[in-house]
Amino acid sequence: MREDAHTELKGRIAAARSLFVLTGAGMSAESGIATFRDAMTGLWSHFDPAQLASEQGFRADPARVWDWYAERRAGVRAAQPNAGHLALGAFARRRPGVLTLVSQNVDDLHQRAGNTDTIRLHGDIQHDQWLDRCARTPACAASEAQPGRPPQCARCGNLVRPGVVWFGEMLPPDAVAAAERAARGCDVALIVGTSGAVWPAAGLASLARRHGVWVAIVNPSTSEIDEDAQVVLRGTAAQVLPPLLAP
Ligand code: APR
Repeated sequence: MREDAHTELKGRIAAARSLFVLTGAGMSAESGIATFRDAMTGLWSHFDPAQLASEQGFRADPARVWDWYAERRAGVRAAQPNAGHLALGAFARRRPGVLTLVSQNVDDLHQRAGNTDTIRLHGDIQHDQWLDRCARTPACAASEAQPGRPPQCARCGNLVRPGVVWFGEMLPPDAVAAAERAARGCDVALIVGTSGAVWPAAGLASLARRHGVWVAIVNPSTSEIDEDAQVVLRGTAAQVLPPLLAP
């Protein structure tokens, strides 16, 4: 990594009134949570996202999808925030109101590192929700579903699904609006650990760039959005973020 690029970016972050950070699965890789598209180790090189990360996949085989998410949930619970997560948590404590953190990740490692206001674009893997909208009033509570693979409502038969955004589903509009507002209005945008393969999250870097924001990418490999950045730091989240965000 070019020292001058690091030094210039560090100076810009230190002077920034507002810092936007978007993270992807690479942010949690050093915590032992698999990414999706890394060759060999990525989840999508072992599993078919259409079968395991889509509504029709869940409806076709609810137990299989439920079991896969149960395994990923256990992995998240066993994981710890890495030095990159901790650096972002420390930055938010040291400079309140400057950082807007947006994540594509469904783990809770940013929150456990102290960034409790992280904007979640793709939901929360630890959260349960109904598969279908409950037509009863008052609506049945997913938390009261009967245990099972997946849990099911004893009253109306509705199934419980993980509270994540599956392929083909809309992202939470408020989260997208807040992320776009922050990306447009910040001084510096730091894009960490994402392949830039999935929209609309991937569009946040170019949105920031079009609004005159200084955009930097942190990624050990090339990504689909490298050309949206003024600078690319070739390194990992846990290696690059601590010195970059330190006072
Ligand atoms: N530090 C930083 N970046 C890393 C690290 C690391 N230690 N290890 C891997 N990376 C990079 C990879 O080079 C890759 O560019 O992280 C990126 C991970 O890319 P993906 O696996 O595609 O993950 P992501 O970009 O978050 O995927 C977006 O796709 O499948 C959906 O919903 C899922 O939120 C996910 C979305």
